[in-house]
Formats: sequence, structure tokens, C-alpha cells
Amino acid sequence: MTEPRSPQPTLTDGVITLRPWRPDDAQAVFEACQDPEIARFIPIPQPYRLEDGAWFVAHAAEESAAGPSAHFAIVDALTDRLLGSISRHGPNGHRAMIGYWVAAEARGRGVATRAVRLLVDWTMATTDVIRLELYTDVANERSGRVALRAGFELEGIRRAWDLDRAGRPIDAAFYVLLRLPG
Ligand SMILES: CC(C)(COP(=O)(O)OP(=O)(O)OC[C@H]1O[C@@H](n2cnc3c(N)ncnc32)[C@H](O)[C@@H]1OP(=O)(O)O)[C@@H](O)C(=O)NCCC(=O)NCCS
Repeated sequence: MTEPRSPQPTLTDGVITLRPWRPDDAQAVFEACQDPEIARFIPIPQPYRLEDGAWFVAHAAEESAAGPSAHFAIVDALTDRLLGSISRHGPNGHRAMIGYWVAAEARGRGVATRAVRLLVDWTMATTDVIRLELYTDVANERSGRVALRAGFELEGIRRAWDLDRAGRPIDAAFYVLLRLPG
């Protein structure tokens, strides 16, 4: 028998909190996603409209409720102000993948690194995942440094893994965090 899925938790380290998305986050997502840096590295709609933000938070909440993927709003632990977004896609079998963005004004103070650590710790504590992965455009060195700081290692480069908006191939740097049998 399948265990009933427990509700999506709220995770915090006292500085940031990962919590489920709410419909009233749409406006803040819309504002954050005007940033060209997010559009450069994440295939969000262009132009990004308020309806896109509303669709995103509704879809994220729905998919998280159904599982196994889990999408979280990254918010300030004290004020609940939206700082970013982090998702775990899967687990699919023993593998899961992490993706994230942080709003431009919240960058450069460890928000993404904290968010990845919280999501990794929760995933390791509550699933049988062996291989956690994330990948970045090779040009996205900032995101690569987040992965390394959060305990991932660079596994290698996959050539022409994605296409950019103009259809040009992009090489991707894959980072992995493995739980290997001892
Ligand atoms: C990549 C991205 C998520 C990084 O977010 P961020 O919150 O600024 O990342 P961090 O704060 O964890 O790290 C940024 C810097 O803060 C510094 N920092 C300051 N205080 C810190 C702290 N307390 N803890 C950790 N790092 C800290 C880090 O040293 C780091 O410096 P570096 O960029 O020179 O390595 C963000 O730039 C972004 O959203 N970019 C656009 C979308 C994107 O690329 N998403 C990822 C797709 S793979």
C-alpha cells in the first residue's frame, strides 16, 4: 500500500524559510521575473506577465501537493518577503534534480546556497534519493559556485544540452551530490 503523502513542510534555517507557494505570491514572482538574468538562464516566458506569475504559483502548489516534486517559495524568515524560488523535480527512482532563482535585490548574501542546503537536507532525510543533481549553463559561474558551496561536485560538461532562445546550443555543467552506500 502506498503511504499517504505528508503535507509539504516549511523548512527554515532561521535566516530564510522555504514554504509552499500561495496565490498571493504571484505579484512578487511577476516583479522578480522581469530581471533579464533570470530570463537568460531559465526558460521563463518572455515578456513575463502577471498571468505567468499566477500560473506558476498555482501550478507549483498543485504539483507539490500531488508529489513527488516539491516547489518552494524562498522567503525572508522574519518578514516573509519573497526572495526566490527553489524546486525539486522528482525523485524519479533514485534520482532528483534541483533548480532555483533568487530575485536580483536578494542576491550576493547566501540565499541560494542556504536554500539548496535546506532542500538537500530535507530530501536526504525523507527520501531514498541517491543522486541529487543540478545543472547550469556553463556561462552561469555564479550558479556553479552555489552548487559547490552547497556540497555538490562538478561531474562534467554535457555538450549542446539545451538550446537558447535563438535555438543555439548551450553546454551544461552538471553538478551532483551522491549518497553512496558506505
Ligand atoms: C545564481 C543565483 C541563484 C545565485 O543566487 P545568490 O543568492 O546570489 O547566491 P548566493 O548568495 O548563495 O551566492 C552569491 C554570493 O554571495 C556570497 N555570500 C555572501 N554572504 C554569504 C553567505 N552568508 N553564505 C554564502 N554565500 C554568501 C557568496 O560568496 C557568493 O559569492 P560568488 O557569487 O562570488 O560566489 C542568482 O544569481 C540567480 O537567480 N541568477 C539568475 C537565475 C539563475 O541563474 N538560476 C540558476 C539556474 S541553474
